[in-house]
Amino acid sequence: MIRIETNEGIRTIRMDRPEKKNALTGAMYAAMAEALEGADKDDDVRVSLILGAPGAFTAGNDIADFLKVAETGQGLGTEVIRFLKAIAASQKPVLAAVDGLAIGVGATMLMHCDMVFASPRAVIRTPFLDLGLVPEAASTLLAPAIMGPQRAFELLCLGAPLDAEAAHRAGLVNHVVEEGVLEETALAAARTIAAKPPAALAIARRFLRGDRAAVLARIDEESAAFRARLGSDEARAAFAAFMARSKG
Ligand code: COA
Repeated sequence: MIRIETNEGIRTIRMDRPEKKNALTGAMYAAMAEALEGADKDDDVRVSLILGAPGAFTAGNDIADFLKVAETGQGLGTEVIRFLKAIAASQKPVLAAVDGLAIGVGATMLMHCDMVFASPRAVIRTPFLDLGLVPEAASTLLAPAIMGPQRAFELLCLGAPLDAEAAHRAGLVNHVVEEGVLEETALAAARTIAAKPPAALAIARRFLRGDRAAVLARIDEESAAFRARLGSDEARAAFAAFMARSKG
């Protein structure tokens, strides 16, 4: 469900579960984390590019998994946090090409990317509060820095969707390009990055990305709150309602 390829210095990480709108399971997070951690260790990889399916970058965490946690009280597993920390701490550039839905972690992972390309039909949305949850992935730190506190509030607390143009204006998306040329445009940018002197790029990027320790600490803090919310009555009811809806 995660397809990984490395060609000419570019590692592509494709979420590929289109029948569930690319909803992410523990195994998918683990595979994505491994791909990013591996990219840092592999001299042949200069840049990673995250891709989705036509019309669905990802619909976020698999809600069936959330419901299981809410009903059984079992832990969510460590894969999500491993993935979030891998993308937050990545020593090499990470790009994303978003066609269609980018929901929940599909939206917040973009805040960790160096460049984001989106198709005109992209919709970026974080319905955390409506699910009885709280924002994650250090989005409470990164979103205000990217788009300002007011727009961050609207996105993260109201769950207001950002279409591609709004996300572009907000600074979350670099370029809006037609879906037919989305991936080749992102790949062309990845090629440009891969051709830069890697040591100089690594230094420039380290300065640009600022204090990673603060980002990693915020991931942990939000995660503690998120886990507590998963067991709440509000969250359990919202997950059950979604699963009932999807059964028709
Ligand atoms: N977790 C689990 N399954 C999901 C999912 C998710 N996050 N998102 C979509 N799916 C499943 C649906 O249950 C459905 O499965 P089924 O065919 O077995 O019933 C399938 O993917 C197709 O989704 P569907 O809802 O029929 O497509 P749609 O085009 O009408 O709507 C979405 C797409 C993404 C808007 C809608 O599925 C949705 O709101 N998903 C939940 C998003 C979300 O809240 N994510 C969590 C963020 S923290």
